[in-house]
Amino acid sequence: MRLERCFFLLLNLAVSSAVSLPTVNLNAKGVIMRAFDQFRVKSCIDFKPRDSEDFYLNIQKLNGCFSYIGQRIANGQNLSIGARCDTLGIVEHEILHALGFFHEQSRYDRDDYVQIVSANILPVNIHFFIISTFSPYDYMSVMHYRKNAFTNGNGLTIITIDPKFQDVIGQRLEMSPYDAKELNLLYSCSECLQTVEQYGENVEIIKICMFTFVLVQR
Ligand SMILES: *[C@@H]1O[C@H](CO)[C@@H](O)[C@H](O)[C@H]1NC(C)=O
Repeated sequence: MRLERCFFLLLNLAVSSAVSLPTVNLNAKGVIMRAFDQFRVKSCIDFKPRDSEDFYLNIQKLNGCFSYIGQRIANGQNLSIGARCDTLGIVEHEILHALGFFHEQSRYDRDDYVQIVSANILPVNIHFFIISTFSPYDYMSVMHYRKNAFTNGNGLTIITIDPKFQDVIGQRLEMSPYDAKELNLLYSCSECLQTVEQYGENVEIIKICMFTFVLVQR
């Protein structure tokens, strides 16, 4: 099921830092560098300045925070870190799109985990909620929207089936342990060991590269 995402596999991904990064501001540039570090330590994905690659990311300050999903455009694929997009979680979110990730609430099994309140969504944004991918659900994903994303003002647009995750969805601190795990699966980061061990009903220990995550569900 996860292999669905391999359609977007990026090989020899390069980042045009020389061409494009100067068009983002100094703070954004620092945050983007920190995001690259996170990919470096949590997966086998690395970024380098563009040399002569045909396919590379052109990271710019355009209008908003957005990216294509996967490798799509030759000669500089735009990825925008616009105003108020220069936080680590948002930059990781956009880079994960470029690496092939869809939004978490677009997964095939999402109706088992969240209720999408169509009546409260601005009609032009309904396409953000279309089901399009295959993989297990992760409320903590940096790719998940928040509870009132694209609301028309009448209330929540995403209600979690399990209420304890209502305020968890939409976090933009960092990619979650499972985001990192999926990235490693998708890009076959075999030199970087990942294991998930279950201890009893409520505790999971996830080891990804040099990191150990202990998930305790209450
Ligand atoms: C990329 O962004 C630039 C603006 O800097 C724009 O002129 C260009 O059309 C964009 N390319 C694509 C393929 O959207």
